[in-house]
Amino acid sequence: MREPTATEGENGAVVAVTATSAVASPPQALVERLKDYGQEDVFALWDELSPDERDLLVKEIESLDLPRIDRIIRCSLRSQGLPVAAIEPVPENCVSTVEERTMEDREKWWNMGLKAIYEGKLAVVLLSGGQGTRLGSSDPKGCFNIGLPSGKSLFQIQAEKILCVQRLASQTMSEGTTRSITVHWYIMTSPFTDEPTRKFFSSHKYFGLEPDQVTFFQQGTLPCISKDGKFIMETPFGVAKAPDGNGGVYAALKCSRLLEDMASRGVKYVDCYGVDNVLVRVADPTFLGYFIDKGVASAAKVVRKAYPQEKVGVFVRRGKGGPLTVVEYSELDQSLASAINQVTGRLRFCWSNVCLHMFTVDFLNQVANGLEKESVYHLAEKKIASVNGLTTGLKLEQFIFDSFPYAPSTALFEVLREEEFAPVKNANGSSFDTPESARLLVMRLHTRWVIAAGGFLTHSVPLYATGVEVSPLCSYAGENLEPICRGRTFHAPCEISL
Ligand code: UD1
Repeated sequence: MREPTATEGENGAVVAVTATSAVASPPQALVERLKDYGQEDVFALWDELSPDERDLLVKEIESLDLPRIDRIIRCSLRSQGLPVAAIEPVPENCVSTVEERTMEDREKWWNMGLKAIYEGKLAVVLLSGGQGTRLGSSDPKGCFNIGLPSGKSLFQIQAEKILCVQRLASQTMSEGTTRSITVHWYIMTSPFTDEPTRKFFSSHKYFGLEPDQVTFFQQGTLPCISKDGKFIMETPFGVAKAPDGNGGVYAALKCSRLLEDMASRGVKYVDCYGVDNVLVRVADPTFLGYFIDKGVASAAKVVRKAYPQEKVGVFVRRGKGGPLTVVEYSELDQSLASAINQVTGRLRFCWSNVCLHMFTVDFLNQVANGLEKESVYHLAEKKIASVNGLTTGLKLEQFIFDSFPYAPSTALFEVLREEEFAPVKNANGSSFDTPESARLLVMRLHTRWVIAAGGFLTHSVPLYATGVEVSPLCSYAGENLEPICRGRTFHAPCEISL
């Protein structure tokens, strides 16, 4: 039984309530429901709780969709250890490689993409519900400033890329007239990132976007569980919960009725990407044009895997002739990760997922139901804060690429990592994927753009450690830089802006 605190002792009313709470037991109906799912232990510390804490606990348990959660837990635990079809490498002819692409292809896709954007057929979905634990920051990852000369956050860089694409589509397609184009940006947050993300956007005036072209929506959470499927309690009156993975986007889009919102805006295609790649080409017209040209339901950009232990998922074929899907780095057997294709001398599983996907709205409508029905989530063993201190438990997550096996057709589009992949995963000081390594990748690429556009650089620190940054408001992928750069000398590090 909880001892009344000094303050409580001084306050008759509070002491009286504490006394009442000593006899109250958890609502019987709720206990019975929990028993049906073997989760009645959530009330184990009931006697130690204050009335307010009891209230919180009851409300929380009542808010849980217990049948659904139970189904997910059972299906996910049961699927562990079940035989799965062996994985096969993706046949080379399933990938549009950089080297086989002609100038005409690129131009055709770029123009097709801009046309579709001009016609309002593209929306962008940002996956931003993850907690930047590895980065060591408590802010949403998108708020992170990686140390570029401009000091821009990831969100700002991405917003400016949208502004740039809108301008390009308007200039290219409206033949002299200037019709303003809007690409709607749907931003998925989680209860952990929602409020600070919204505040960040409003305090930065949406980085120049129209506030009503940005829609925030929250993904779901699921209880963290012990290996035998019991809820872990974070506090005596609260269940430990975690976001349901970036694949939670399908259910979240559906529940928030955002697929209908997209349809009402005339959106047909959705570009969906992770927040932590500084070189991400948001709303990429070339990728969109390729996607439309191929007539597929889903597509992903891929890069060649750099080394066997690189922390990237790889595209595989599940079973002979089976669907394309991704095996996450945490789930790929080490011997398969380093297996070599004896003919090419390359890694057998070499097509890395960079979390850049394109879907039709029709497919998004279908897939949420399929995934929900299957209810098999990935189980990630993690240290979880609990009433007993840090404990080893399981987080239940769906992955964005879990949808691929449901797609009637999937296309893979190779891009060059030095042009499109600068991940920010770990804090500076780690050996890879840090803000510092991403900053250098951006500045090296932009320096090459500036030199190709006829600009010159001076620098007082070695060039390998510096360079220039080109504002996305000037150029999306290195185009249109001649008028700004030809014959001009820039002192690195600096930002080249309008
Ligand atoms: C992710 C990919 C991996 C890929 C790598 C490339 C997934 C599941 N894995 O791995 O295959 O090779 O990026 O960099 O996509 N997120 C949410 N909600 C969540 C969890 C994550 O929105 O519940 C978002 C994150 O904010 C981030 C993105 O999903 O934008 C990727 O998540 P993260 O956990 O960082 O994935 P990685 O392990 O890096």
